[in-house]
Formats: sequence, structure tokens, C-alpha cells
Amino acid sequence: MNADTNTNTKEKLSGCSMYEIISKKRDGKALDREEIKFFIDGCVDGGIPDYQAAALLMAIYLRGLNSRELSFLTEIMTNSGDTISLAGIPGKKIDKHSTGGVGDKVSFIVSPLAAACGVKVPMLSGRGLGHTGGTLDKLESIPGFRVFLQPGEFKQVLADVGMVICGQTENIVPADKKLYALRDATATISSVPLITGSIMSKKLALTTDGIVLDVKTGVGAFMRDTEDALSLCKTMVETGEKAGRRMIALITRMDQPLGRAVGNSLEIIESIEVLKGSGPADLLEVSFAVAACMLEAAGVTGSYGKAGEMLQDALDSGKALEIFRKFIKAQGGENRVCENYELLPRAGFQVPLTADRDGYIAAIDALEVGLTAVEIGAGRSKKEDTIDFAAGFLFEKKTGDAVKKGENIVFIHAGDIERAKKAEKRLRRAITIVPRAVPAAPLILFRVDKDGHRSF
Ligand code: URA
Repeated sequence: MNADTNTNTKEKLSGCSMYEIISKKRDGKALDREEIKFFIDGCVDGGIPDYQAAALLMAIYLRGLNSRELSFLTEIMTNSGDTISLAGIPGKKIDKHSTGGVGDKVSFIVSPLAAACGVKVPMLSGRGLGHTGGTLDKLESIPGFRVFLQPGEFKQVLADVGMVICGQTENIVPADKKLYALRDATATISSVPLITGSIMSKKLALTTDGIVLDVKTGVGAFMRDTEDALSLCKTMVETGEKAGRRMIALITRMDQPLGRAVGNSLEIIESIEVLKGSGPADLLEVSFAVAACMLEAAGVTGSYGKAGEMLQDALDSGKALEIFRKFIKAQGGENRVCENYELLPRAGFQVPLTADRDGYIAAIDALEVGLTAVEIGAGRSKKEDTIDFAAGFLFEKKTGDAVKKGENIVFIHAGDIERAKKAEKRLRRAITIVPRAVPAAPLILFRVDKDGHRSF
């Protein structure tokens, strides 16, 4: 076969040929803007067959993209559908994105905290992916909460409350929907340029002033290896800066669940507790660091110490909690959940998992915890699955804690006893108890911005 026998009418008109584009990338050559646009447009309008799109994705996976190609890819993907302009809303608009983890409810804490300090926080979020929980699923555990808003309503909530969290409509970055499905089926997900194009195109579809990234690394993260996380982080920061956003990223550990709660309504309760001033130390540490970066990106303050004081004041004064309450109400939710947790879904069974020996917790495998959470109904194994909002885990002990035989380590919240028992067996294998105390590992590893990376 040669290029001619593989050329269709559209290719003849545009002067581009998918066959030649694939060969070029296969041979390690750089694609130009027109070729990347031809590929993305053809994916969206169905003009390019899946086998050719998949072949190019594999060639990109193996050969990579240079920063020029990646900027073209991201910009063309961003403009493959609707974009939301926030230009008419006063104040600096700062988005926050996490690459996903287990027990990661940081968005619910940093958004009202940053908003209380004068930053506008617009977020387009997603559902659970694999073993990681989804922001939208967690919010939907609040009775009445609407995760889909019209663009006008999205802007109104942002202007009135200072924060808004909403799902993407079908028409925001349609190119990513098509490409992600193909990547998922062709083992081409874990590619730094393809992940960057996918995440950053969705972030850039909102016209914010800056974006703060929380890139997770460790057993429960998408990027297990810290070097890979750093490479992804630097690429996303560079791509965002080229698109005119102020970018700051943190690399944070995701070896054990963040905080004590895993599961939708349990995580909402834990977030409210943090906003009332009584959250677990690890969750507070990551939340304060991310929120401080948001204040810096917005130009509120570049001093970490000053940001810490402002954020503490937003907590102590109750201002952040009040914003969270307003946000729930503005999106149709029952905001009395902030005072009365009984209004949230609650599991019929709460089964403790107890220590089988004396010792110290050396590890709580976040990946296994996340997969077990999906098994008891807190997440989906198939897109069509329905979620049990009440299901999940509440950890009494975390890595580094001492335990005595018979002491509770975690409570399993489940809709039926059989599921709870099955989860107990699996969770037990995910928890390692050793005879001697284990040193605490740092939670926040690096900070990355346009000037490079440094230890946090
Ligand atoms: N999340 C995304 O949105 N895209 C990816 O490619 C990976 C994670």
C-alpha cells in the first residue's frame, strides 16, 4: 500500500494525508499545525477512521511531541468545542486541578478558602476514574445538588459566591472525549504529551488567569513514579504558560488515602469538618499549600507565611464555611448538611476492621483502598453503574500510628453486610503493620512553576 491508495476526498481537498501524518510521526519527525488540526478535526467530525487515529496515537506515545507540537495540539483540542469566557467577571479567576487520588477532597476546601481571600474559583470537574474518586460524584451525594449548569448560570454562581464547581458539557473539548476513548482501548493513556493535551485543553476551555495543579505521585496515583510526575508537571506548566496562564504546580504524595474519609458523602462531611477547623493534619497541609499557590497565582500574596495567615483567618472567622454553604445553595443543594450530617446518605452497616497484632501502621495501599471502595459501591467499575453515595471508609489510624491488637483501624460503611465483609478481607491485605515505628515521609515533594522546580 502507498499514500495514494489511502487518500480520501477530504484529504485531497486539504492537502493532508493521514497515512503521511502517521508515517511522519512513526519516523520521529515533528508535525506541523495544519497536520495536527487535520487529525483533531477529523477525529471530531468522524472523517478519520479509528484505526488511523489509533495508529497516530501510538506513534505519538512512542515518539512524543515537542513543545511546539504540544502547544498546537492543546490549542486545537481546546477550540474543538465550546469555550467559556469569564472576562466579564471582576477579580482574578484561578482554577485548580488534581490528577486524582483516593480521599482527595482538596477542591472542596481550597475553593472556599481562596474565595474567602478574594480569589474567584471556577472549576470544571469530572467523575471518578478507575480507583480514584470524582468531585462531581461527591457533590451529588448532597441532596438536590446540581453538577450541570448552563454557562450563564455558571458565571452567575461564580460572580455571586466566588466559587463554582460544575461538570463539562458534551460540547467542551469534544476532541478529548473521542481521543480518551481511543487511548483507553489502545494502551496509550500514560503518555506525557497526550495527558497534557487532554487535561490542559479542558482547563484552557475556561478563560482563567491562572491554574494551580496538584499532581499526585505514589501507589494510588496515576503517575506512580515521582520522575514521571515531575515530567508531566513541567510539561503542563510550560503548556499553560504558553497559553497565557499563570501556572503553579505541586507534586504531592498519594501512597495512602488523603485524610480519613474515602467515599462520597463521607468526604463531604470531612471537608465540612475542615472548614469548621477540625480536619486531619495531612489534608490540611495539602489544602493550605494548594490554596497558598492559588493566592500567589492570583497576585494576592507571594509570601507563603502571609498566605497561611490569611487562610487561617478565613477558617477561624467562619468565612470559608459560609462560602461553601452559599455555594451548595446556589447549585440547588441542601446546605443544612453543613450543620446536620444526618441529611446526607448514611450506610446501613458500619463494620470495624481491627488490628490483628500490636505494632505500627507502615502502609495503607491507596490503590487497593480505592479499588475496594469501587467494589463496595462508592465508585463505578462500568460507566453505567450507579453509585452508593453512603459507601466508603473512615480511617481511625493512618500510616505512622501505633496500634494495639483489637484496636479499630478503619470503619467500613456499606449498604449490606456481605459487601462489608468482603471489603474487610481486601482492606486487611492493603494495611501493613510492622513491629517498629516508621519515619514519616514528606507529603509535598516539589513546587513547579515557569522558573523550574524546587523542593517544597
Ligand atoms: N485525566 C485526563 O483528563 N486526561 C488524561 O489523559 C489523564 C487523566
